[in-house]
Formats: sequence, C-alpha cells, structure tokens
Amino acid sequence: MNFINDRDFARQLDQTDPLRSYRAQFHIPHRNGQPLIYFCGNSLGLQPKAARTALDRELAVWQNLAVEGWFEQDNALQHEPWLAIHERSKPALAHITGSRETEVCAMNNLTVNMHLLLTSFYHPTQNRSKILTISGDFPSDQYALETHIRSRGLDPAHVLVEVSPRAGEETWQMVDLLAAIERHGDELALVLLSGVHYYTGQLFDMAAIARLAQQHNVPVGFDLAHAVGNVPLHLHDWGVDFAFWCSYKYLNSGPGGVAGLFVHEKHHSRNDVPRLAGWWGYDQARRFEMTKGFVPMPGADGWQVSTPTVLAMAVHNAAVQLTAGASIPTLRLKSERLTAYLHFLVSDLVNIITPGDPGQRGCQLSLLIPANGKTVFTQLTEEGIIGDWREPNCIRLAPAPLYNTFDEVWQVGNALRRLLTIG
Ligand SMILES: Cc1ncc(COP(=O)(O)O)c(C=O)c1O
Repeated sequence: MNFINDRDFARQLDQTDPLRSYRAQFHIPHRNGQPLIYFCGNSLGLQPKAARTALDRELAVWQNLAVEGWFEQDNALQHEPWLAIHERSKPALAHITGSRETEVCAMNNLTVNMHLLLTSFYHPTQNRSKILTISGDFPSDQYALETHIRSRGLDPAHVLVEVSPRAGEETWQMVDLLAAIERHGDELALVLLSGVHYYTGQLFDMAAIARLAQQHNVPVGFDLAHAVGNVPLHLHDWGVDFAFWCSYKYLNSGPGGVAGLFVHEKHHSRNDVPRLAGWWGYDQARRFEMTKGFVPMPGADGWQVSTPTVLAMAVHNAAVQLTAGASIPTLRLKSERLTAYLHFLVSDLVNIITPGDPGQRGCQLSLLIPANGKTVFTQLTEEGIIGDWREPNCIRLAPAPLYNTFDEVWQVGNALRRLLTIG
C-alpha cells in the first residue's frame, strides 16, 4: 500500500477497517478527559469491557453457590462448573496458536510453564546436552534456563549455545541461527527461543527452525509471550514440540493473567515424558478418588498442576474470545498495515532496529534514539502517547490491531516528527 502522511488519509483507512468495531469493546484509558494513545499492548493489553461482566459472574457464583460452583451448573447465573473452566478457552487458543484443542491449555504463568516444559522436554545425555538459544532473550527465560540447567547438575556455560546478532547489527540473521543448529545438531538436546524478540520486535521463522531441529532429532520449544495474538502461528503443522506464553500482552487478559502452554500431540501418548505433576493434571474423572500414583489427563491438560485461579481464568476466557472472534488473519492484515504506516511516518527520523520487512516483525517497532531518548519518551508520555522505555535508548511502540487506529498512528508520527526536529 502507498501511504500518505496526511490525517485524512489515516482516517479513511479507519473508515474501511473491518475491525473498527472492536475498539469500543475496550476501555481506552483517559487523562484530563482525553483518551490516551495507548501503544503499549506489547507490555499490558487494554481491559476488554467483557472482563468485568465475566468477573462479576464468577463473584456471583462464589457468593451464591460457593463450593458447589466447582460441580454445579446454574443457568440463571450462566454458570458452567469451574471444574472444566480450562476447557472454555480451548477453541480460541487453538485458533490463535494454530493447534488442536487437545494441544493447548490455559494454566499458571509463563515462566512456571517454561520450567514445567523444560522438565518434560530437556533430556541431556552424555553426547547431547546442549541447548541452542539466542543471546539477550528475555531475562526471565535466561534465569529459568540457567537455574534449570544447574538443577540437573550441569554448567550453563557448557550447555548454552547462544546465537548473537552479527557485529554492528541489532537483530539476528536467520541464516546464522539455522547454521548454528546445523553445526551443533549432534550435541543439541533442545532448541529454545522466543518467537518474537521482546526488545527488537524481530519475528523469527519458527517453521524453518522447527523443520531443521527435527531433521537433527532435536526437540524445539518457543516462548510466545510477544507472538501470541500478534502474529500467525501454526504450532501443530510446524511440528513444534512445546510452547508457552503469557496472556497479558496481545491477549488482553489483565496484569499477570493466566498463561498457556502447547504440547504437540505427537507427545500425548508417550508415557516416558517426565513431569512435575500436581492433582489438577490428574485424570479429571478420578481426581477426587484421591488415590496414589499419578495418572495424567490426556493432552496438554495433563501439565496442569494446581487448582485454576478461577477469577483470572474468567477474564482470560472472555478476553481470548475477542482475539479469536476478530480472527488471526484479519488481525494480521490490519497489524501489518498499522505498523507499516508507523514505519513510513518515522523511518527517516530515527533508527528503527525492528526489521523493515513486515514478514519479520509483529506489531511492535523499537526505535533507538541515541541523544535525548528519555526526554523524547517523557514528552510523548506528557502528550498522552503511551509507549514503553527500555534502557539505554529504546522506545517501543506497538499499535495493536484490536483497539488502535490509523489516526492514532498518524498522531504518533506527527508528534515524533515535531519532538525530534525541534529536540
Ligand atoms: C518474552 C518474555 N518471556 C517471559 C516473560 C515473563 O513472563 P512471566 O512474568 O509472566 O513469567 C515476559 C514478560 O514480559 C516476556 O516478555
């Protein structure tokens, strides 16, 4: 599409946006009576209006049914037993992640799920103990890997193979990642990295990584915190072994909202997969027999550990319906346009480290502002434009296709031009 730096042009794009009705389904934060321009869905997505309804319903069930809420249906309250609350997000999560419903389950939080899945899919042997990842992945992932490796009696310095961007570059070359998998293939026990990198916004070719890892008989897992609800995923068809994500970014499930995980169906009937189990992963039909000896639920559900946090689950289940209802292909089409428009408006002003190719990024752009970045960021915030700041000099801006508009993108481009030209 040929873009024009003109507000009417942006407004025309909004008028023909097939997703334009979704914005009204979110609470847009205001300051001094004015709506903020919220480009921070990469950190915390906005509150869907349906969240309060969902929460109120569960509070009413707790109030009126108390413990019976686990097992009783109540049509007046539109209540299905909490016992199966993890099932309600499955169709949406399957659509969003390109999976079978049996392969996905909402549970826990992201880093917890990462540890659970490392237990299941990292099997170091004498000859194959290494984990291939990228340098500078999200800190929680680095800490999880480091401590998990130590818990197996191994030394992270020997186990981790970290692929870095080339000297002078900010993002990774796919050829380097694939060459590293080729080079280390025989000594790898796992390939594990983010699908979309939190700092640069780079989208990795997960299909190519999974394909090559499989050729070397290496399991592959992805942290999808910045990918889920942001870019199309086909976890089942790609043959990804496992994945995990949080839902408070592009899935809008609220601060610290319930996370999710994916386990490919090829692992479902294996009984040699180690787990850190709890009673909520135990065969649901027999859970309350309280007998000895762990019998997992089939599929991803068998990785559940604890009683689900029903209130957070209720919000999560309502939120993911919005993303799935809009549909990933439609969201992606708008997202590519929104972000390409932002790129068009500011690329002559700042160094954008996010790849220029829309196929290698999601909705986020990471702008490096060397001289006075923090001042520019503060001025943007004072003008009601909410992005986020990452030390030492990076502003991350993520127009989200469910609730952001082309007009907002134009306003952000206009503000940056003014601030950077006079600053
Ligand atoms: C890529 C990535 N991984 C892991 C995490 C940590 O997730 P949690 O704190 O929910 O475990 C985040 C949080 O923002 C993240 O962006």
